[in-house]
Parts: sequence; structure tokens; C-alpha cells
Amino acid sequence: MQDILILGVETSCDETAAAIVRNGREIISNVINSQIAIHQQFGGVVPEVASRKHIENIAPVVNSAFREAGLTYRDIDAVAVTTMPGLVGALLVGLSFAKAFAYGLNLPLIAVNHLHGHIYANFLEHDNIIFPAVCLVVSGGHTSLLYMKSISDYALIGSTKDDAAGEAFDKVARFLGLGYPGGPAIERAALQGLAGRYHLPRVFLDRKDYEFSFSGLKTATMNLWRKIEKNGDCNPGDIAAEFQAALVEVLVEKTIQAAHAYEVETIMIAGGVAANQALRENMAKSANKKHFKLYYPSLGLCTDNAAMIAGKAYHDYINGTFAALNTNAQPSQFSL
Ligand code: KG4
Ligand code: ZN
Repeated sequence: MQDILILGVETSCDETAAAIVRNGREIISNVINSQIAIHQQFGGVVPEVASRKHIENIAPVVNSAFREAGLTYRDIDAVAVTTMPGLVGALLVGLSFAKAFAYGLNLPLIAVNHLHGHIYANFLEHDNIIFPAVCLVVSGGHTSLLYMKSISDYALIGSTKDDAAGEAFDKVARFLGLGYPGGPAIERAALQGLAGRYHLPRVFLDRKDYEFSFSGLKTATMNLWRKIEKNGDCNPGDIAAEFQAALVEVLVEKTIQAAHAYEVETIMIAGGVAANQALRENMAKSANKKHFKLYYPSLGLCTDNAAMIAGKAYHDYINGTFAALNTNAQPSQFSL
């Protein structure tokens, strides 16, 4: 069969990214222009600033992806772009660019759900993943457990009632003065502290369902910090370590329980929080003990990138699922 080369474009939050992927597997180029340094000064992503930066960066980033790949515009077979979920202004920059690019070159346009992209990052690097599987999607905006029958057939089995796991990391880090993005900042601080010195709640761990809640854990963490700060006995590392342990324990336990209940052999993790070392290690320990096969993407493919978008789109290309040029961005939809 003829090789299929797809250009992926991703601008859903604060990374302007473009990648070229061959046959849904081989990453030919993967360019990410991160705006972290810009948003750091505000303590979080400022949507309007993100949109403006995407406008400045999108053409150079796409051109870098072609340069890195040693390819020309004429070599590709389709253009894939994230259309949901994300910041609407940010999504619109990538989508408008991708539409114009596809129209100008008479190429098919493929709309990709950002979360499906995150899940697909596992398939960029791993062959022969056995279905059915349970997948934990943990990002800045989402925390969900999915039952996956195939690479593109998902059912939602549980999700967060309030904050996403990444959002809780970001908010707690900001409160503790550890900086943005919060996940890596908490992870670093936790290495300087001890989990268990204080106790934080494992919210919903006693519930026999697959729902999550992190807002209460966030508030409990803030209250605990205020209390011990007053006593002058404050190592933010201890708080970071206990917060991370509390959050990771719930994620791991619920995922393992779901894998048992749904009688799967395979567990996957996806999204920015999947880069967390404590989550990777604890999930691996529990999965090994119970003989589940665990997959997670390498660190660079956990956080936002366009290779996962171009990879996912290959399967849509093969199925002939293309998007119309009047496709719109959908900020908050997790369509399964
Ligand atoms: O998937 P992602 O890059 O963007 C979204 O789709 O939201 O995820 C970003 C989230 C942020 O909340 C960030 O703090 C978190 O992932 N994150 C981490 C780590 N690296 C990124 N959380 C915990 N530990 C990490 N090492
Ligand atoms: Zn993401």
C-alpha cells in the first residue's frame, strides 16, 4: 500500500505545534513552540495572549515541520487539525490555517478531537496493543476513564465532577508559589519533601464508581498549608508530596478497579499528567501486581504535540472520514 503522509496542526492551548507522520506510526517531524515562558509571568494561560502568539507562530512552525522532514507541501496527503476541545480563540487559529492550507493544496481536511489525539500517542509508540482496554485520560482540562473496544471506539465510564487532575496540580502549585505549569513544579517540589508527614484526603476512593473529584483535595491542601504556615513549620515539599500522593493513589486505584470490572488485559494512560513520574511508577507497580499490561507515551508525547493529531488522523483518512471547510471549533466537547 502507498505511504500516507499527514500534516498535523495543534493549537488548542499554549503550544503551537505541527508534525508530519507517515502511516499513523512514523514521526517524520514534530515541532512544538511552547508559550510557557510567556504565560509564566501571569501564573497561567491567558487565552487572548495564547491566540495572538499562535497567529505569530503557526506559519513558521508548520514550515519548520516541513524543513525538519525534508519534505515539500506537495508531498503530503492530508491536513489534520485539532478542532475540540480547547480555548476557542486558540483552536480557531490552527483550524483557519489548516483549512486554508488544505483548500490551497486541494487536500482533504481531517478534524481531530484533542483527547483522542492524547490517547493515540500510545499507538505512535506501541505495536500490538490488545483490546478491549481501559484508558485513563488526565490532562489540564479533563480526567476521564474510558473503556476502549478499538482504536476509535470509546465509551466513557467515569470522569471528574469538578477540577481535572492537571487543573488541581496547576492551582495548588500556584497557591504554594511553585510556578506554572503546576504539574512539573509539584513533581519537583515533592522530591524535596515527604508524603505522609501530613494527611490529605483520597477523595471518592471509597465509592464503587469511576467518578473523580479533585476540588476538595485542592481546598484541603490550601487549608493545610495556611495552618502550618501560621505555625512557621512549612516545607512546601511535604505538602506537594502528600498532594501528589493523594491524587495519584485515587487515579491508580480507580483505574485498576475499572480494569478488573471491565475484564480487560490492557491499561493505558494519556494526557499531560501522564508525564508524572509518581503516576507512571505507581500505576506500573499496581498493574504488574495484577498482571495488566500498561502503556503510556514517552514524556514528550504526553503533553501537547501535533504528532498525536497527525497519527490519529491516519485512521480517519483510511476510513474516508473528512471534514468540511465550514467545520467550526468546539471549545468544550468531549464527543466519544
Ligand atoms: O495534555 P496537556 O499538555 O494539555 C491539556 O490538554 O490540558 O496537559 C497539561 C496539564 C497541565 O495541567 C500540567 O500541569 C500537567 O498537564 N502536567 C503534569 C506534568 N506535566 C504536565 N502534571 C503532573 N506531573 C507532570 N510531570
Ligand atoms: Zn492536551
